Amino acid sequence: MKVTVVGAGAVGASCAEYIAIKDFASEVVILDIKEGYAEGKAMDLMQTASLMGFDTKITGSTNDYARTADSHIAVITSGIPRKPGMTREELIGINAGIVKTVSSNLLKHSPNVIIIVVSNPMDTMTYLVHKTTGIPKNRIIGMGGALDSARFKYRLAEAMEAPISDIDGMVIGGHSDTGMVPLTSHATRNSIRVSEFLSEDRLQQVADDTKVGGATLTKLLGTSAWYAPGAAVSSMVQAIACDQKKMFPCSTMLDGEYGLSDICIGVPVILGKDGIEKIIDIPLSAAEKAKMKESADGVSKTNGLLEL
Ligand code: LAC
Repeated sequence: MKVTVVGAGAVGASCAEYIAIKDFASEVVILDIKEGYAEGKAMDLMQTASLMGFDTKITGSTNDYARTADSHIAVITSGIPRKPGMTREELIGINAGIVKTVSSNLLKHSPNVIIIVVSNPMDTMTYLVHKTTGIPKNRIIGMGGALDSARFKYRLAEAMEAPISDIDGMVIGGHSDTGMVPLTSHATRNSIRVSEFLSEDRLQQVADDTKVGGATLTKLLGTSAWYAPGAAVSSMVQAIACDQKKMFPCSTMLDGEYGLSDICIGVPVILGKDGIEKIIDIPLSAAEKAKMKESADGVSKTNGLLEL
């Protein structure tokens, strides 16, 4: 099982690191346009192998896509990250061109590859990959909901002073500060609804903190986060590589599900060896439906900025 990670920046490197540490892939290729950078990250990571106990082979390449040939899964992290005060949507101009070139280069050498899009604005970049590559929709997956749900669980655990392993919850909708829809009414602690433990106001605070999770970190770090994004991608890659049939909210092309069409947005899906094997269309409350519609309107507006 060969996995390519395009972009050796912080998110790409952390993604490659978590994939390697979990030791389910035979090979991870990191590719970057900056001369020698991916090779350096790959060598540094390989020198952790004997210490961390993994056998995954990690190699680096400066923009030579032939080295990515016959990848089963490719993760696109390339593009510029946001700076404090910037929205993900503001990155569209530069990142759209990059994501288009990267996906076309990947497909030249790995025609059957499953593509995971991380570059922002992620839902629109996922839509762009659909429109420009024409590959089947099960093979194009946007990473947002897995990360946003992890941030949601972190905030819920913090509010309840509970261990994170007690918490279950999901964020659907667009991967943006205003578009995320944390499903607070469905979240549980050991199968008990979180509303049994938290007031409505506190739950609203948890939802608000979750939605600006990325922006909060960008402000603290001066650039966007990498550990949780890398970990979220690695869990999705593992679900596909190991055919786990796990459920994650992912950005996927909708065709009537949730009353939406011709849009990529976060909804629960099953990830297995074929990529997105099923979209789970759960019933939403009237309030959640309205939020999902508003979120979709925002994503569509950003999609409208693409030059297709
Ligand atoms: C974040 C980036 C990956 O939310 O969108 O940290």
